[in-house]
Amino acid sequence: MRNLPLGNDNDLDQSQFYNRTEEISFIKDNLELAKKASTPTILLTGIRGVGKTALMKKIKKDLENDYLVVYMDLSAMDKYKKDKLTRFCFMKLFYESFIRACNESDIITVDKRIMKFFKTRNFKFDRLESVNDIPVPILKSQEDYSKFTDFVMNLPQKIYDDYLNDIDGVLIFMDEFQILKQLDEDVNSFLWYIRSVIQSQRNIGYIFSGSMSIKDELISDIAGQKGAFGGRILNYEIKTFSHATTKSYLNEKAEYLQFTDDGFDRFYNCTKGIPFYINTFARLLPPFEQLDEERIVSEFKKSLPYLLIHLTNEWYKLTAQEQRIITALVDKPLRRIEIAKKLNVTSGAIGASLKRLQNETLIELNNGQYQIYDSIFRTWLKMEYEEKGDYPY
Ligand SMILES: Nc1ncnc2c1ncn2[C@@H]1O[C@H](COP(=O)(O)OP(=O)(O)OP(=O)(O)O)[C@@H](O)[C@H]1O
Ligand SMILES: [Mg+2]
Repeated sequence: MRNLPLGNDNDLDQSQFYNRTEEISFIKDNLELAKKASTPTILLTGIRGVGKTALMKKIKKDLENDYLVVYMDLSAMDKYKKDKLTRFCFMKLFYESFIRACNESDIITVDKRIMKFFKTRNFKFDRLESVNDIPVPILKSQEDYSKFTDFVMNLPQKIYDDYLNDIDGVLIFMDEFQILKQLDEDVNSFLWYIRSVIQSQRNIGYIFSGSMSIKDELISDIAGQKGAFGGRILNYEIKTFSHATTKSYLNEKAEYLQFTDDGFDRFYNCTKGIPFYINTFARLLPPFEQLDEERIVSEFKKSLPYLLIHLTNEWYKLTAQEQRIITALVDKPLRRIEIAKKLNVTSGAIGASLKRLQNETLIELNNGQYQIYDSIFRTWLKMEYEEKGDYPY
């Protein structure tokens, strides 16, 4: 009966993955260009929970027979991090993800060749650092680092050239791209470096995505006029489910939910068509009971802690100043100077906090005004205040 995916499951099977036919064909059509040698680069944007990761994994599954498809989640760079997040954490993850994709593919057997390369270059291996039996070379000198970087970045082309009779190209999905903002170097110089490597490659397609606000500086660093990929990257926004899509989705997958018309309108209004919220909230609703507007409102209140678990976790980790900045924005968006006034500090004193909150996609800057990014999170804060007389600091 209950075939709605969990809100945190982005590896959906064919029966769970709904719709997105337009998005899929658009992206596939563009990736097909990889066959024609020009290297397409795509930036998939969209708000948190809209289904970017689910979509990438779906496309990966669809194309796995024709392409070598690499999916890398940049948040996994953390495991290579000693004290700082560096370019080499990225390179190691790229390498690991690449080898894993080769191992999982039926077409490519790459291990021996790679090992031979490392032997000829005198790399040493660290078995302890090995991930899923993929040995990671130990890098000691600066020279090792640059040899490894060159090797890793050119690996896709090398594999394609070796297997061009077997595959149409190599596709590389980089998810959680926003994490690059934490790099211990100017993210722009890193982006330009990637771009310089990518542009000479043929039959290799790259898709970047992650939780970024549409107004994020990183997006203009990547795709803007002066951005590293400016003019050469396709920026495609994944949209929320429409009212009609959400309706047919639930009719099909959760026919046991008995909405009245008003009840459904309220449900859509609460979840804003964001699949993460649609699935999470729908799974919490009682089956075979009439769901009118009033019922949805009260169920929504009860469900908020579950819907917002990812954000409340972040909330309790914030500093007092960061929390106060957010609560200052509950009623309406404000300019920096207005926030500072509310907090009784100078405008300069909140710069770092604003930056961090933006980087965590908790707030965004829109036409000179800061606003809370997630409207459901804003609702939660508002309700806490109304019920308890204060915010949950
Ligand atoms: N096409 C779909 N059909 C059904 N459910 C979906 C679909 N796409 C996404 N979902 C649901 O939404 C949830 C969130 O999707 P996903 O993790 O892909 O979002 P995201 O855009 O990558 O979010 P984030 O920005 O936080 O990484 C999934 O776990 C799943 O429950
Ligand atoms: Mg995601």
